[in-house]
Amino acid sequence: MLELQGKVIHEERQGEAYAPFELDSNEYKKKFYIESYGCSMNFNDSEIVASILNKEGFGATKFMEEANLVLLNTCSIRDKAEQTVRNRLNIFRSFKKERPDMLIGVLGCMAERLKGKLLEEEKLVDMVIGPDAYRSLPNLIAEAEGGQKGVNVLLSREETYSDIAPVRLDSNGVSAFVSIMRGCNNMCTFCVVPFTRGRERSRDAKSIIAEAQDLFDRGYKEVTLLGQNVDSYYYTTHDSEEEVTFAKLLEMVAQIDPKLRVRFSTSHPKDITDDVLFTMAKYHNICKAIHLPVQSGSTRILQLMNRTYTREWYMKKVERIREIMPECAITSDIITGFCTETEEDHQYTLDMINFGKYDLSYMYSYSERPGTLAQRRYADDVPEEVKKRRLTEVIDVQRAWSAKNYEQEIGKTFEVLIEADSRRSDKDWSGRNTQGKVIVFPKGDYNLQKGDYVLVKVNKATSGTLMGEIVEVVG
Ligand code: SAH
Ligand code: SF4
Ligand code: F3S
Repeated sequence: MLELQGKVIHEERQGEAYAPFELDSNEYKKKFYIESYGCSMNFNDSEIVASILNKEGFGATKFMEEANLVLLNTCSIRDKAEQTVRNRLNIFRSFKKERPDMLIGVLGCMAERLKGKLLEEEKLVDMVIGPDAYRSLPNLIAEAEGGQKGVNVLLSREETYSDIAPVRLDSNGVSAFVSIMRGCNNMCTFCVVPFTRGRERSRDAKSIIAEAQDLFDRGYKEVTLLGQNVDSYYYTTHDSEEEVTFAKLLEMVAQIDPKLRVRFSTSHPKDITDDVLFTMAKYHNICKAIHLPVQSGSTRILQLMNRTYTREWYMKKVERIREIMPECAITSDIITGFCTETEEDHQYTLDMINFGKYDLSYMYSYSERPGTLAQRRYADDVPEEVKKRRLTEVIDVQRAWSAKNYEQEIGKTFEVLIEADSRRSDKDWSGRNTQGKVIVFPKGDYNLQKGDYVLVKVNKATSGTLMGEIVEVVG
């Protein structure tokens, strides 16, 4: 169903129903169109931007053709991410020819990295706005409507947008992102994030709880707490009366309701504490899944990356997680071909995947980013074809573990939160177990809805999906 006039716009996409925009876009005289790239935090930022724009009289649209304002929320993490954005801008060019009054803004990390240079390089862009400057959007739009191009890429030590209620874009109405902090202080040498997102700062715990409570009250059943390094979350009031660590925050969110699932991402291995692990173990509704990016299995490379842990230290952390929560899923990120990486270092990474037995890893070949410590200190000296070959080997080893881990679930019964129709058929539901594995199962004669919990017995598996059938309705 695609109904632009109604209260909520639904779109059938690959068999899944999306309610992309919560608000009635007819209330608004003007329309904005936004595309987001990069990490979950960036997608969540787009929801903050949507909220700011709603207040300015702009309603969201799925169709670029009818937008007065077109926004690209960009990512700089690898060169390819920036190329994608350039390609999209090329496509926008033809739209702008037909609609010269249409304003185009670049938001996010690429805006922050390139600043005013983006206006020189991409003549059709009217506004460039960095991740901490979204409150200035209304002013920049007003100036752009008057024909003046504008840039605001000021980074802030305080901004957390804690008072802005995100407008959920493309939501399934069951799961939502909640940003708990911004920025990153870690300075991994390969990474552009500390430069594009600025210093780490934690959001007021009360506003996080209020947002999660509000989501639950509106029928959401899962929140994912977001930060580049969630385990270093720390919030204290000026009088230090209230001190909230990440473990405490997790507990507070978990206590909202046992029917509200809590997930979080990302955990830097150096910061995840026993406190966090014990809190996870204590609450059934804190999902047993940790994204624990290793990046490399070689201690020498980890040092060059400034990850601040060794191979052995990381392995101990994995063992500790398994000791406290044997059922906990662990996932990872891996980079191949970082500066000076030898075949021996690469072998250590392959061994690490075998040790971690990850359910899933996000795997990349190293992409040198301008301005990062690695770019300034080390030569990007691993040939492209070697990086790619190592990446293929890493992917192959990981794939084998994913297949094995999924196959091992056959015969087991899991509690599943129903999230949507399955991609293939509206006769099947799709949801996830606590470990984050996707499970697809027939709806049958049960009168169930998105947001309900069911027990599902797995009877088939591929390397990315489990298939099963309902054995009991939890409610
Ligand atoms: N804060 C998260 C990661 C954010 S970036 C963390 O610390 O784990 C997501 C992933 O992109 C990283 O984990 C890393 O594997 C990858 N990445 C970052 N910079 C990269 C680069 N220059 N080249 C290739 N991959 C990179
Ligand atoms: Fe980048 Fe490291 Fe910060 Fe993650 S922890 S965002 S990889 S600097
Ligand atoms: Fe990309 Fe910025 Fe996220 S660089 S990964 S959008 S923090």
